[in-house]
Amino acid sequence: MRMKSVVVVVALLALVLSRLEAFVSVGSSGNTHVTITGSAVMAKIEEVCKAVAESEGREFKPTGSSAEELLRACLGTTGEVSGAKFRTALNQIYMQNGIVDRDFMASASHHFNNEEFKEGRNLIIQGMAAIKANVRSDNLQSARETLGRVAHTLQDFYSHSNWVELGNKSPYANLIRPDLTVENTADPEMPTCSDCPSGTCPNQLLPEILKEMLLTSGYMGLFSAAKPQGKCSHGGETDLSSSQNPRGGISKDESHSYNSNMHNNAVNLASEATLELLEDIRGAIGNKDYLRLMGIARSAVLAFVIDTTGSMADDIAEAKRVAFNIIDTKKGTQDEPSEYILVPFNDPAFGPLIRTTNPDVMKSEISKLQATGGGDIPEMCLSVLQLALTGAPASSHIYVFTDAPPKDTHLEKTIIALIRSTKSTVSFFMTTTSRRKRAAGFRTAFQVYYDMALASGGQAIEVPKSSLSQATAIIVDTSTSALVTILQCSRSPGLVENFPFLLDESVTNTTIYITGSGVRFNLHSPSGVSQSNTDVNGPLGTINQVGNLQRVHLTGTEIGLWKIEMTNTLPYTIKVTGQSPITFLYDFVEEFKGPHPGYAVIDGRPAAGMPAKLLLTLSGEKGPENLKVLEVALVEVSQNKVSKGSIENVGGGDFLVNVKEVPAGEFVVLLKGEDQSFSSQFQRQTTTQMSQSKIAIKQLPGRLSLASGGSAQGTISLTPSANTVSGTDVTLTIEAEAPGAVDSNYAVLRLSVLSKVTDLTPPECKIIDVEGVCYSSACSSSNWELSVNITDGNGTGLQSISIQQGSGNFTQTEAEEEGGVVVMGLYEASCCSTLVTISAVDKEGNVGRCSYTMKSDAGSRLIAMSIPLWVSVLLYALLHATFSVY
Ligand SMILES: *[C@@H]1O[C@H](CO)[C@@H](O)[C@H](O)[C@H]1NC(C)=O
Ligand SMILES: *[C@@H]1O[C@H](CO)[C@@H](O)[C@H](O)[C@H]1NC(C)=O
Ligand SMILES: *[C@@H]1O[C@H](CO)[C@@H](O)[C@H](O)[C@H]1NC(C)=O
Ligand SMILES: *[C@@H]1O[C@H](CO)[C@@H](O)[C@H](O)[C@H]1NC(C)=O
Repeated sequence: MRMKSVVVVVALLALVLSRLEAFVSVGSSGNTHVTITGSAVMAKIEEVCKAVAESEGREFKPTGSSAEELLRACLGTTGEVSGAKFRTALNQIYMQNGIVDRDFMASASHHFNNEEFKEGRNLIIQGMAAIKANVRSDNLQSARETLGRVAHTLQDFYSHSNWVELGNKSPYANLIRPDLTVENTADPEMPTCSDCPSGTCPNQLLPEILKEMLLTSGYMGLFSAAKPQGKCSHGGETDLSSSQNPRGGISKDESHSYNSNMHNNAVNLASEATLELLEDIRGAIGNKDYLRLMGIARSAVLAFVIDTTGSMADDIAEAKRVAFNIIDTKKGTQDEPSEYILVPFNDPAFGPLIRTTNPDVMKSEISKLQATGGGDIPEMCLSVLQLALTGAPASSHIYVFTDAPPKDTHLEKTIIALIRSTKSTVSFFMTTTSRRKRAAGFRTAFQVYYDMALASGGQAIEVPKSSLSQATAIIVDTSTSALVTILQCSRSPGLVENFPFLLDESVTNTTIYITGSGVRFNLHSPSGVSQSNTDVNGPLGTINQVGNLQRVHLTGTEIGLWKIEMTNTLPYTIKVTGQSPITFLYDFVEEFKGPHPGYAVIDGRPAAGMPAKLLLTLSGEKGPENLKVLEVALVEVSQNKVSKGSIENVGGGDFLVNVKEVPAGEFVVLLKGEDQSFSSQFQRQTTTQMSQSKIAIKQLPGRLSLASGGSAQGTISLTPSANTVSGTDVTLTIEAEAPGAVDSNYAVLRLSVLSKVTDLTPPECKIIDVEGVCYSSACSSSNWELSVNITDGNGTGLQSISIQQGSGNFTQTEAEEEGGVVVMGLYEASCCSTLVTISAVDKEGNVGRCSYTMKSDAGSRLIAMSIPLWVSVLLYALLHATFSVY
């Protein structure tokens, strides 16, 4: 949708979804919840990586404790791998985890304040169902964001309720079990706390509450001191109710001398509870998808948007050749794409978006494409691009094959907003034929493609159909696991100018792309060797010229300052890329206040006339530890204007950068740093162009705030069609434009459509029998087996059964019984693998588990013994505690 307004637009989105629930995701930040979430997330990833390595019969040995080293060990590759996607995924979780304190500051249920136990638990249960449904529909970003928020609410229970004061030593399982409810809560009228005039009392709970083991939580008065008679307060400066008798507060958010024990207990229980939440999600989606959810995936994604109108037969054949080539040659390497995306379009039909992790599916889908129909008319290219940008993971490289200009140019602003929001790169292969001669007007009709390529940091390549195969080499270049951009700029009109760029120790396969017709340049190496663009096989590299693209592949990577000398004044773009594990991510952020202040990501363009704040995350081969940031600057793309920022190291590889004077035009972020392990300086750039805007758009959950300069508001109602699959994402792009289009801004929202959860009971897995004798002295020469019966009672039915832990074989047979289907499973394993966890998932994502550890030496023989579910869960928890590394 599109709204025109004067200067400031504030949009309040109310979502009215009939019979379906919606989850709205907004901005982000980081604080203490993030450390609790972070350690649980990393511990669980490590545990799952270990289990997957064991089941694949390979060793799992990270070379160190950094996220990047964990990623490499988990993928089982030795080659260069960038941690960027992993860190992006983690940031998506962490930022939403922190931002609950801003976006839901006044919502008691999000923090288990005001005794809102039922409501808080509902948020968790619904959130968990949403995460599972999103993963099933492959909407991983939504799943991560919901996970971040759910973890926050779950963690707050331990800080804001009296669970710790009641002496509990383990998390409250009922909060994450759909089939259970919160029990034993204090009555609404029942007083719960004694008065604490000093505000620093170790335990204010009334003896009756403790004796009866009643659950209560503190009241939070952000806007008023009123609270029900006799009830505990949250406490702290921002809680006005803490001045009301009973004064004080029971929050354990911070550690003070009078509560440090309870604070520590709350943190430990919150960590354990987070681990249990993650374990439930893992059980529901399986190890493989769990790791993808956490961002453990090879970085390359192959995304094609292909025009299939009549004249496109050659182009389709070439796209197919390149896809097959990448799939076949990169198979089994760290450069193998982790995901494939294909969106065909004809005239006027387009889509559907095909998204798969299976290379054979991609091969078969691309083989099905045929050039048919379509006249000599422009096509729906931007509509398709919109599908691709919303469907592909963030920071993807998307390639568009077409020979016609777009008909749907009204979508241009939406596409630019999506490019900025996803930081994906879009490149165009515009093939010229007799159908559309390179006559005057070609450039004009296709201009929108040039603009989009430029805005995203991609290439717009005009090429005769006969030479297309030379141009597609750029697709192979980007299909790697550690692509970085070292320099990117454009000049129109061109200038006679020198462009220096720094190559460091870690960079390999450096490639320079120069687009522009008739552009001439000289390349100079740090040691003074030169090569002109006419010397296609020179001392520095090989140059391929095809259409308006000149691609220079450097023969070697000499470390130091290189220079591209542009010698004429035709318009051009320059891009220098390489492969390196040293890279960075960034977001524009703004500070927020309240009981738990922090930083939140700005969703659209940063505000004009103000300093800009960036949150930068650094990633290197062994994490960010050996990397030093020397300079961060915003560089105008079309001019040599540089605005440097001041840098504050906030720990964990994160840096807060403050840029006082933001360039007026489109800019990219330039980072200069030092790799201290080699004492080598490096330079990296982002590809997506950004600029400031005077327009602010806010999507506000329930509350409306106004900025100066006037405002407007709108309500959007979305009604998904009846056959929408639960877990489907809706991407809503809101654009606001000042009169005459002198300024504009956007907001991109991802909303998930979820069907109401009706099946609350998990499947039941019963251990029936264990056979075999194991001796640890000779484990490889003997086997053991475990028989289980798995049922889903009168629930939605079994969706999947998987071995979550253990390297044995599992076979199953189904039997129809009175109470429904019974799956009889047999697990057979070597005595070297003594631990097994079987997880059974129903169609709603409820998880039932069986865990068993075979004893060695003495041997073990259990006959016809059935262990109730709660015992196996307990057993599992015990085993889990012994086997995990925190
Ligand atoms: C990168 O360079 C290495 C040799 O330096 C080569 O083996 C490899 O194929 C190159 N990769 C790409 C994607 O060009
Ligand atoms: C396991 O399931 C099978 C098939 O339904 C049934 O015959 C058997 O009695 C079950 N065993 C137990 C212990 O429930
Ligand atoms: C079936 O579900 C209902 C609730 O919908 C429950 O009360 C009943 O106990 C369940 N029956 C069985 C056999 O699980
Ligand atoms: C699991 O199956 C594989 C292949 O069928 C077989 O080689 C292996 O011995 C089996 N392992 C056990 C423990 O039965």
